[in-house]
Amino acid sequence: MNKNLRKAIIAGNWKMNKNRAEAKTLIEELKPLVANAGCEVVICVPFTNLETALAATEGSNIKVGAENCHFAKSGAYTGEISADMLAEMGVEYVVIGHSERRQYFGETDTTVNLRTKAALEAGLKVILCVGEMLEDRENNITEELVALQTKIALKDVTKEQLKNVIIAYEPVWAIGTGKTATAQQANEVCSLIRATIEKVYDKEAADAMTIQYGGSMNAANAEELVAQPDVDGGLIGGASLKAEDFSIIVKAATNG
Ligand code: PGA
Repeated sequence: MNKNLRKAIIAGNWKMNKNRAEAKTLIEELKPLVANAGCEVVICVPFTNLETALAATEGSNIKVGAENCHFAKSGAYTGEISADMLAEMGVEYVVIGHSERRQYFGETDTTVNLRTKAALEAGLKVILCVGEMLEDRENNITEELVALQTKIALKDVTKEQLKNVIIAYEPVWAIGTGKTATAQQANEVCSLIRATIEKVYDKEAADAMTIQYGGSMNAANAEELVAQPDVDGGLIGGASLKAEDFSIIVKAATNG
């Protein structure tokens, strides 16, 4: 597998953090620190910060993403935001199927698939999250589970549309816990996801697919993780809220 065939992406997932003023400050701090990045840099922010983030990143190399979207184009879905609404604003990326949405908001593999298709049809790039719970790992079903999550999420997604999909492997036990998967564990599952893509699509699609690791990735461990042959960057939660730390991770991906 040739790492040069694909783009490394470091994406921040701010989750439910930062008001507009704080968002602007963080982006202004970040801009000069990542201006020479050798990888794609994305920040996924709360809906209320999208407008601020789009304005603050204009003319810079930082791309903006949302953290979720609904699968309907419009309609009676109080409190929801459609993929078209995001695309119309100029948002480029959207995180779909984050484990926090699966755990706390009833997200299923089927709704992840619906949201993925809606986002792709709207012209957004999807950061699709998959990953096992601790119990799954202990029961030795990580491989089957992650393959299944990947297959269902991508049902009816064409090979052409797949070019706008990035997969983030995020073991749930590593998210926000300070427990990172070892570089070897991360690579093992990312490589399994790539094999699943090859099975469902083909080798060309698998070689070109950006597969990130996420889960307590930080300034200290990023270099080893992104250097793995099948890890093409990261989805960063906590460490993306500090400009300095996030920029160190971006630099690690540049070198990796
Ligand atoms: P973390 O979160 O880096 O804080 O573990 C990662 C994520 O949830 O995307």
